[in-house]
Amino acid sequence: KSDAKAVGQWVGEYIAARINDYKPTADRPFVLGLATGSTPIPTYETLIQLNKAGKVSFEHVVTFNMDEYVGLPQSHPESYYSFMWKHLFDHINIKKENVHILNGNAPDLDKECRDYEDSIKKFGGMEIIIGGIGVDGHIAFNEPGSSLVSRTRCQPLLHETRLVNSRFFDNDINQVPTHAVTMGVATVTDSREVLLLVTGHNKAEALSRIVEGSVSHWWTASVLQLHENSTVICDEPACARLQ
Ligand code: F6R
Repeated sequence: KSDAKAVGQWVGEYIAARINDYKPTADRPFVLGLATGSTPIPTYETLIQLNKAGKVSFEHVVTFNMDEYVGLPQSHPESYYSFMWKHLFDHINIKKENVHILNGNAPDLDKECRDYEDSIKKFGGMEIIIGGIGVDGHIAFNEPGSSLVSRTRCQPLLHETRLVNSRFFDNDINQVPTHAVTMGVATVTDSREVLLLVTGHNKAEALSRIVEGSVSHWWTASVLQLHENSTVICDEPACARLQ
């Protein structure tokens, strides 16, 4: 696609079409995995427009977010909880009880992560998950070196990731949490379909590594080369390093 807006338009329309084609039952709603960050914002804008225009309904949609910072109050403007309500959930007809976001303040984070995995399974697994990638090729917060069969767990964030994300915290890396709870690589690839959104020149190196390099835990999103139904939707600046 030409730019990030065009990527968001395409992905938003695609997800809406998949929701509309799905025949939900009481115990099998449409289960959608979601990401935060700058990349999916145009997709969420498209979904909001389509919902407001009556072209898609979220009544039978259940969502699971990929990750959340550890130790940041839920009410903090940069928590992923706040992000999701601000950029999507407050503007669509989703039921509050159908939204799932890891609690980065849970007293027992291991239990929180195990329960999250169980909950995804209980709903029958994810139909589609959308994700972005970090400049270091991370998917969700599976930093380089994460096991490709990892499950939901607490992870330290790399200095580079905290530096990149400090743009949301007054450019002060000290305010960026040091850890996150995140779906594992295998939690993401368990989804029946994966859409990876890659926009902007700063992702060019990562995109070339994950699609043209070998599958490696040093570039965790490269695992999607082994997924039967995954698509990378990228804009032109992100393609600058592709051969
Ligand atoms: C967010 C997430 C991360 C981001 C990635 C890119 O839920 O899991 O993997 O997708 O860090 O972030 P942006 O889109 O801000 O460049």
